[in-house]
Amino acid sequence: MDATNGTTDQTFEAFARHDFYRAVNEHLVDRTLQIRERVEEPVRRALDLACGTGAVTQLLADRVRQLREPVEIIGVDPSTAALEKARKLVGSAAAFVVGTAQAFSDIVTGVDIILFCNAIHLLPQKEPVVAEAHRALNPGGVLGFNTSFYDGCYAPGTERFYKLWMLRSLQMLKRETGLRPDRNRVEAMNWLTPEDYRVMLERNGFQIEEMKTEVANMTCESWQDISQYSEFANGALPGIPVDVATPILKRSVAEAFDELQIETLPRNWLQVVARAV
Ligand SMILES: C[S@@+](CC[C@H](N)C(=O)[O-])C[C@H]1O[C@@H](n2cnc3c(N)ncnc32)[C@H](O)[C@@H]1O
Repeated sequence: MDATNGTTDQTFEAFARHDFYRAVNEHLVDRTLQIRERVEEPVRRALDLACGTGAVTQLLADRVRQLREPVEIIGVDPSTAALEKARKLVGSAAAFVVGTAQAFSDIVTGVDIILFCNAIHLLPQKEPVVAEAHRALNPGGVLGFNTSFYDGCYAPGTERFYKLWMLRSLQMLKRETGLRPDRNRVEAMNWLTPEDYRVMLERNGFQIEEMKTEVANMTCESWQDISQYSEFANGALPGIPVDVATPILKRSVAEAFDELQIETLPRNWLQVVARAV
């Protein structure tokens, strides 16, 4: 519950506190900075695109504090509720601006690095965002992005977990509320392959510097935390109000973990660093 207003917090904040999540993002931030360091010019401006509640912005601020020259950090996200939390978390180390990944190069330009974490899969059209990132970056600038929703994100042997979780949640939903998700209400999520991302980046003036899979071991608690994030709950049980969907998803994922007798579930994160050429 959100202690300030007594409602359930529907942002990504609770999930973003998990150690495995911090680790995958930290690795991406570090690799993006290291690859940018090959350019002789210092990093002056950095953008955290789709910064949400500021978890990655905070990582970035910690890292750039160690650089010789000061770095201006800007976080962009369309959610004012998330930005409010980001401001509280990061303080004056970054400026936060309302904006979208489809149109930010008029608000933020001349950047040396862009981090775009855990968000590209949310966008039905990904190519305009890649083009926009290229416009906003200085020559030699570096884009680092990651996603755990792509064609290849299910670690081998884990498909049965997702099937069981959905089965248990649908059974629970029907039994307790009589409701069924409305599959017509959800836009099919467009999960690209790593190769699709490679081709799209190269087509838009980027050179791939690194593309790899990192395995994160997700706990039951982390799935419960992501179940309260409105975008996730809407995707898992479309058409069901979030305050109904979230408790069902939380209880059914605990059942799935119990039935399969697992402590953690491996999930693949695609980590990509590309340079504007
Ligand atoms: C899963 S959160 C990731 C937050 C943060 N980047 C992280 O890795 O912890 C996804 C974020 O994408 C934002 N988002 C959704 N649609 C967007 C869009 N069209 N442009 C930019 N950000 C968007 C959401 O508001 C949310 O804050």
